[in-house]
Parts: sequence; C-alpha cells; structure tokens
Amino acid sequence: MKWQLLWNRASARPNPVGNVSDVADANEQILASLLVMAWMVEARDPYTGGHLWRVARYAALLCEAARLPADACASIAIGGFLHDLGKVGVPDAILRKPGKLDDAETAVMRTHPEVGMRMLSGHPLAELVSAVVLLHHERPDGRGYPHGLAGDAIPVGAAVVGLCDAFDAMTSTRPYRAGMPISQALSIIESELDRQFDGPLGRQFIALGRKGLLDHVAGHSDDGIPLQRCLMCGPTLVVRREHASGDSVFCRSCGGAYRLEAGADGALLGAVATGGRGSARELEPEPDTALIGRFVRETARLAIAAGAQAPARR
Ligand SMILES: [Fe+2]
Repeated sequence: MKWQLLWNRASARPNPVGNVSDVADANEQILASLLVMAWMVEARDPYTGGHLWRVARYAALLCEAARLPADACASIAIGGFLHDLGKVGVPDAILRKPGKLDDAETAVMRTHPEVGMRMLSGHPLAELVSAVVLLHHERPDGRGYPHGLAGDAIPVGAAVVGLCDAFDAMTSTRPYRAGMPISQALSIIESELDRQFDGPLGRQFIALGRKGLLDHVAGHSDDGIPLQRCLMCGPTLVVRREHASGDSVFCRSCGGAYRLEAGADGALLGAVATGGRGSARELEPEPDTALIGRFVRETARLAIAAGAQAPARR
C-alpha cells in the first residue's frame, strides 16, 4: 500500500523522539518530543544555532548561584529550552528580518508568549514551564509584555529565563551585527538592574560572568563545542558532540557546505569550506536528539520526577 511505502521512507531517517535513547519514563518521552518541537521552531531562524541549549545552561547556572532548590533549577532550565515555542506563530518575514522591527511587526512578535502558552494548554507537562513560556518578557519596571507585571509579581523562573535570553541575544551574532563581548553585555545588564532585569538575579548573573563562569557557554552549542564560522554569515555552524572528522555541516543561513577537520591537538573540530552548497535534503532542520536525550537525563529528569513547578514568587 502507498502509505506503507511513505511510512517506510519517512522512518528510514532516524526517528527524532524514538532516538532519544535511554529516556524510559513516559513523561520523559513526552518532554523529549516537546524539546524536539522547540528545536524545530528555533531552527527557522538560522542565526540562533545553540540558543536553546545556551539559555537552558545559563538558567541552570544562575538558579544554582541563587541557591534555588534542585528541582526548581531543573524545571527553569526546561523553561529555558522551551521559552520561545510560540514563535512558530511569527511569520518568517518578521522572525528573520535583518534589522529593527516596526511597530506592527513588533506587535506580531509580542504575541509569541501567549501563542506558546496556548500550544501548551492541556499538555501534561504544561505546569512545569507555563510561567516561563508566558512571562519571560515581563520586566521588573512593569514595561514588559504580555501583562506588564512588575517586581516580585514576575515568577522567578520567568525572570531567570528573561535575563539569560537577553544575555544570549546580546552576545550572539545576528545578520546585521556581531555579538558583543561578554563584559559589555554584563555592563548593559548592570545598567538595567531593577528596570529590564531583576536586581538580585542580575547581580548574581553579573558575578558569574565576571568570574568567567559563563565563558564555556557563550558562543558554544554544547559543552566544550564552540560555534564555527561560516565565511559568508559568521558563527552559524553548529557542531554536534557526535560529529567526527570528515563529517559535513552546513550553514543554515546561506546553505554553504563545510567539512569538519580535527585540529592539531586532534580534539577540536574546525570547519573548512568545500565551496559547495547543501541540497534541500541536507539543509533540512534536524533536531540534535543526542543533546536532547542528555538534557532530559541529566537535567530534566529531576524536575519530572519531583513533579516540580518553578516557585511562583520570590
Ligand atoms: Fe521570547
């Protein structure tokens, strides 16, 4: 039958969720599928390689520094991974616009927290992350969105993820500007304490950054793996932990093909342009299921087991 042929062809490629191995618990499987969806939404913007991983890592580091309970740290890190799920509802012309959005475009962009919330409604794990998804663009001075909450009315998880998201945006390269140095982004956070960013959390984040404890995350797409530079587009090439010398990677912005080669020390893989371009098949967004599996096992398992919710208030 025709559908069987189609099914066989579709399943000839690794099944994203089924491949998140060693994730035995049903809730962990459900979470893994949600993380895969978030990955696919993020992949629509070619300049955000590694963004979800970095926001989740920064959030976990900040939660630990703030001495939040371990299960709350884990659920906030999950929120960091899922915070922009609602961007699936933002058109490409706005999502990928190089440069400043006009007022009408900004209004569309600002729908994403509520769209994300709607996507999660009725989901068995919604309680774990809904506050972060809905409220990560609120600000202590009340000038955020969607509800204009102020001060302690903003849940700690949303404040953590909002801060980490903004830091990653500042330190990441966009089509129209290079990412800024960590020290400069920390100074901007410092100047916006109690306005755009939570004061106590912001001070803890700045302290982490000034001790160099964010250096291994900024500009990386996994522990110990820096983003590689596309000759045309900048640091858009995501190298995965499972990649080996000789593997191909592609710039998701221009489609340029690169071959990974081990450096002199044999450890770090560098990207060398081949001069070719990826085919449509090669440029298909593909979630890093190994990374997602590790994230579920190493970080999320605790939150799921505890049925944790991020603490609502400080
Ligand atoms: Fe967002």
